[in-house]
Amino acid sequence: MKKKLLCMFMATAMTVSLLAGCGGGSSADSGSTPAAAADDASSGDTAASGGGKVGVAMPTKDLQRWNQDGDNMKSELEAAGYEVDLQYAANDIATQVSQIENMINSGCQLLVIASIDGDSLGTVLEQAKEKNIPVIAYDRLIMNSDAVSYYATFDNYMVGTKQGEYIRDQLDLDNAAGPFNIELVTGDPGDNNARYFFGGAMDVLQPYIDAGKLVVKSGQTDFETVATANWSTETAQARMDAIISANYADGTKLDAVLCSNDSTALGVENSLEANYTGDWPIITGQDCDVANVKNMIAGKQSMSIFKDTRTLASKVVEMVDAIMKGGEAPVNDTETYDNGTGVIPSYLCEPVFADVNNYKELLVDSGYYAESDLQ
Ligand code: BGC
Repeated sequence: MKKKLLCMFMATAMTVSLLAGCGGGSSADSGSTPAAAADDASSGDTAASGGGKVGVAMPTKDLQRWNQDGDNMKSELEAAGYEVDLQYAANDIATQVSQIENMINSGCQLLVIASIDGDSLGTVLEQAKEKNIPVIAYDRLIMNSDAVSYYATFDNYMVGTKQGEYIRDQLDLDNAAGPFNIELVTGDPGDNNARYFFGGAMDVLQPYIDAGKLVVKSGQTDFETVATANWSTETAQARMDAIISANYADGTKLDAVLCSNDSTALGVENSLEANYTGDWPIITGQDCDVANVKNMIAGKQSMSIFKDTRTLASKVVEMVDAIMKGGEAPVNDTETYDNGTGVIPSYLCEPVFADVNNYKELLVDSGYYAESDLQ
């Protein structure tokens, strides 16, 4: 059921067909081997440690999570004996393309890439393929490129369903009379994940909207309209300002805001603080960024999805190590993520939800944050 709904959503939301992909072939066997890549590499760079050189391309330093992802991966890869070229691209696609080009030309034997725009790397990755440099798409799937060998991420659809279920349970939608007012805020349209987050949440919430128990007063429900370019806090805030002034300025109660991640949730929370006087709505998020955990403690954000970047980084290091040693990377999903050239073998880590009741155990006791970070 989940897969069918997701396939339907994806097929209409974007022209990539998951239905075709469900039976499609794997692109893991793209012929890339790091040994061949090392031979092909034009630069004389050699790994100080002898393990080989790995390029890690991250989208931006603006969001806390990508700094953690990058730092964790660099230190774990170095501990495993690899030299690491870690780059951040300030959310600028051209910068990311040229950083990847440099990695290819400076002797990287494997690339780990969290793309800014999943559709913009096809051309540069042709060069990686020519040099037999394997590519692991990190967190975000790289679309329409057969140079992608593997994908490692948290289960993005599950992130969305957990957010939707949280709203369903908190509003007790199956029992309470309602109707309840909800607004929807998702992420960047160029980020393939955003469609999974939104699709997962809407598969839970849509039946209640259809039944009239949830009402989207703004009328803004389709992906393109509720998307937030670059996942920008300011853009989400400005859109929420407009929604509040048009629909909730007269005292109408806003019961919930589905936000696909923490940077957009922060924008919504800033807007509510400035413009809304009613009871605070349920607000979802994702990443457990420090500012949002603080808001959770202060009662301004109800939950966030915790994706432990240490788990993902460790898994990717395992994948890198297996590939660099000439083997196959561990995967646990070979059906869900079709990038337009076939299903990309994936490793999906499991996300969990955090709220004011369990954040200490999840975030502090596990050493992810120090208690003092959250004060
Ligand atoms: C990631 C989220 C993140 C968002 C904005 C998504 O691709 O999966 O964790 O909040 O990008 O950077």
